[in-house]
Amino acid sequence: MMRMASLSIFFTILILLFHFQHSSSFSFSVENFEQDIIVSPKGTFTAGFYPVGENAYSFAIWFTQKYKNLTNAATIVWMANRDQPVNGKRSTLSLLKTGNVILTDADYFIVWSTNTNSSKPLDLFLYDTGNLVLREHTTNGFILWQSFDYPTDTLLPEQSFTRYVNLVSSKSDNKYSSGYYKLIFDNDNVLRLLYDGPQVSSIYWPYPWLVSWDAGRSTYNSSREAKLDVWGNFSSSDDFTLTTSDYGTILQRRLTLDSDGNVRAYSRKHGHEKWLISGQFHQQLIKIHGICGPNSICITNPRTGRKCLCIPGYRRIDIQDWSQGCKPNFQLSCNNKTKLETRFQRLHHVHFYGYDYDYRANYTYKQCKHYCMRMCQCIAFEYRFVKDQEMPYCYPKSQLQNGFSSPNFEGSIFLRLPKGKQVFFNENDIKNGSLVCSRNNEVKQLRRPYIEGKENGPMKFMFWFTIGLGLIEALCFFMIWCFLFKNRKHSVRDNQGYVFAGAIGFRKFTYSELKQATKCFSQEIGKGAGGTVYKGLLSNNRVVAIKRLHEANKGEREFLAEISIIGRLNHMNLIGMWGYCAEGKHRLLVFEYMEKGSLADTLSSNALDWAKRYQIAVGTAKCLAYIHEECLEWILHCDIKPQNILIDSDYQPKVADFGLSKLLQRNNRDNSSFSRMRGTRGYMAPEWIFNLPITSKVDVYSYGVVVLEMITGKSAMISIQITDGEESHNESLVTWVREKRRKVSDMRSFVEHILDPTLGSNYDMVKLETLAAVALDCVEEEKHMRPNMSQVVERLQIHEHDS
Ligand SMILES: *[C@@H]1O[C@H](CO)[C@@H](O)[C@H](O)[C@H]1NC(C)=O
Ligand SMILES: *[C@@H]1O[C@H](CO)[C@@H](O)[C@H](O)[C@H]1NC(C)=O
Ligand SMILES: *[C@@H]1O[C@H](CO)[C@@H](O)[C@H](O)[C@H]1NC(C)=O
Ligand SMILES: *[C@@H]1O[C@H](CO)[C@@H](O)[C@H](O)[C@H]1NC(C)=O
Ligand SMILES: *[C@@H]1O[C@H](CO)[C@@H](O)[C@H](O)[C@H]1NC(C)=O
Ligand SMILES: *[C@@H]1O[C@H](CO)[C@@H](O)[C@H](O)[C@H]1NC(C)=O
Ligand SMILES: *[C@@H]1O[C@H](CO)[C@@H](O)[C@H](O)[C@H]1NC(C)=O
Repeated sequence: MMRMASLSIFFTILILLFHFQHSSSFSFSVENFEQDIIVSPKGTFTAGFYPVGENAYSFAIWFTQKYKNLTNAATIVWMANRDQPVNGKRSTLSLLKTGNVILTDADYFIVWSTNTNSSKPLDLFLYDTGNLVLREHTTNGFILWQSFDYPTDTLLPEQSFTRYVNLVSSKSDNKYSSGYYKLIFDNDNVLRLLYDGPQVSSIYWPYPWLVSWDAGRSTYNSSREAKLDVWGNFSSSDDFTLTTSDYGTILQRRLTLDSDGNVRAYSRKHGHEKWLISGQFHQQLIKIHGICGPNSICITNPRTGRKCLCIPGYRRIDIQDWSQGCKPNFQLSCNNKTKLETRFQRLHHVHFYGYDYDYRANYTYKQCKHYCMRMCQCIAFEYRFVKDQEMPYCYPKSQLQNGFSSPNFEGSIFLRLPKGKQVFFNENDIKNGSLVCSRNNEVKQLRRPYIEGKENGPMKFMFWFTIGLGLIEALCFFMIWCFLFKNRKHSVRDNQGYVFAGAIGFRKFTYSELKQATKCFSQEIGKGAGGTVYKGLLSNNRVVAIKRLHEANKGEREFLAEISIIGRLNHMNLIGMWGYCAEGKHRLLVFEYMEKGSLADTLSSNALDWAKRYQIAVGTAKCLAYIHEECLEWILHCDIKPQNILIDSDYQPKVADFGLSKLLQRNNRDNSSFSRMRGTRGYMAPEWIFNLPITSKVDVYSYGVVVLEMITGKSAMISIQITDGEESHNESLVTWVREKRRKVSDMRSFVEHILDPTLGSNYDMVKLETLAAVALDCVEEEKHMRPNMSQVVERLQIHEHDS
């Protein structure tokens, strides 16, 4: 009994302490949510607890409404706790004497706070702009915190949108928690819309295949600021402006990132009118990414609006949520009988953006089909006629994401399906859109589990005991919460990752993780542009190559170049990037590890027979053709050399090290400015030396040198012994080969003259002649005489099916 008494005294003291700590200037209670509100001086805005579900409330700011009822939900412009609604009982918002504003759920958990402190008297004030401020209680008092600095999905006139914040859409029109769409200022100073879903993420506005200036954006103004003015003009420091259709009049206005991924400007005259859309960012809704999830297509219909539809043979994963997409109803085997077991079903005017495994120019439908069938991971292919190239292109797909159907899209997708199984698909479904995309209708019950204190306990000490335990729990929760909240805040602020949003399976590593993976950078495996490469072992036992850039500042350009370029590309002959680390002054990149090392290593160790060398020449050419001509942006590598061509276990080449590469303007290929020379002696085209315009032909030249190295077994700079004097001098391989070519007119004997002696007689003379002829064309002095990379691929591929 004594022990129980002392226990109860102990808990009483605890309770007193707890109350003392929480003594507050004022407090809003959720039970009085109708009365406990703050209204702005002219009454335009109201702040208070807003019901967001059954017995669930969020502290919010909304446009004041004359009539409030269920069919007439208020227009919310800000929310403190959108992802953590509080219970409808005993939840409070309090301004503490310490100067902090806290939101407590059911008396226990602090779900949100302003993290402010002050010894001066403070008050919480709502301006007519919709800005809720915590300020010192004097005229023009110092502002400690304001809601304008923490927007949710809406910007109000005169509210600054900066690099430090995002707009995040809500899950659906009637569910206010954070959704997957974000409006951000990217690292290149451009304002973008991003789909940041659970599995994939990608930028969809401006169109990712447009270079920023083609989209009318500037990357030079690093102030990264955007604002909607009271007249209805939204303008951003990257030169994007949106002038609303009712520009010039003073109205109630807001700019909202809606749950469907588009940003719209809304306006209305009075509080009780309907909002009208007076402008929007994205004009083609079906091209917004992620809305329908994988294996599903988005369709629009003037009558029913935007809908999602599973592709034939696939079914919905989650009936509640389209963003999960669809999964196949069948299983495809991948063996020698595949050809007999699969068929392809055509979907007209359907496009899936991204995730091309490869591409083939001028393939017939039949060739494309067989190409897809040969690859187990090919689940469909897109076949379309590219007008300006005047030939058809074949794109095998490894994933089907961001799909849409539009009569304006001149191409078809061919789905790989099992032959025996009948799948029903009615193309009329696409036309009349009878299937309802329920993403916007999803209403899930909010579950807020908590334990209600029972006041009818039989014994008094049991009552105290329960409360005491609860308090200890609360204190623990409070401490854990403080810890978690600090960390969470840190990660929210850190949005560097978005540059690389196009990548698949891409992640950010911490420096200590990578330090551990490389055992303190002990095993060096190479040096590249601006950095040293180490071998490492990740915690999931994946062996990786980790490139650590030298001095952080000097390496910044290389770092951004590599990440933003490789992160967006996807080709079988391109090195895969798993992630990166940018912490303090450390800049690291994590790549797939190539056991066989680089072409330079394998060439010098004589590990390459003739067939492998030919395969490497073809693969490298395909990769260069892809980056020069076909991917989202045109890219010059600028440093093609054997050290940057890695070899995988099947002796397939993988082009690496994009540290010096350069993005090109798409419609202006001949006129890009280079601030400095790039490349390596022996591989650099004459344009660099003579300061002529730089085009993709510089890579063609370097490629020619690499092929000559593979043929001759000599390196790009060779030392020549001059017979009469003792001195030797360096000469480029190109000069040496040209000299030989001049002396020997017959191609066959020329090739025999220059051939790597270690190859013996084990080679195919016809292929070798082709390769040598291609290499010689590639190293022409005059850049217009050199072929482009797709022509090289074509010439080399003539023999691909010979053997
Ligand atoms: C809700 O308010 C609107 C606007 O005044 C009114 O027309 C409507 O009848 C109300 N609905 C209900 C269910 O009370
Ligand atoms: C508020 O907290 C900070 C850091 O904890 C401290 O440096 C500062 O003096 C505090 N201000 C007041 C008014 O208590
Ligand atoms: C909108 O603002 C931008 C930037 O201040 C300005 O260049 C543009 O002319 C404005 N548009 C109108 C219609 O005033
Ligand atoms: C950058 O943008 C800001 C905001 O739009 C503008 O005030 C500033 O003048 C711009 N700076 C330059 C150099 O254009
Ligand atoms: C598949 O075909 C290849 C040659 O076309 C043959 O080498 C291999 O043994 C076959 N595999 C099976 C499982 O039949
Ligand atoms: C495409 O291939 C066809 C034959 O398959 C050929 O006649 C045509 O010249 C090729 N077109 C181009 C542009 O290479
Ligand atoms: C859609 O098309 C199907 C089949 O053609 C038809 O049965 C259905 O009534 C149509 N739905 C609508 C809403 O028009």
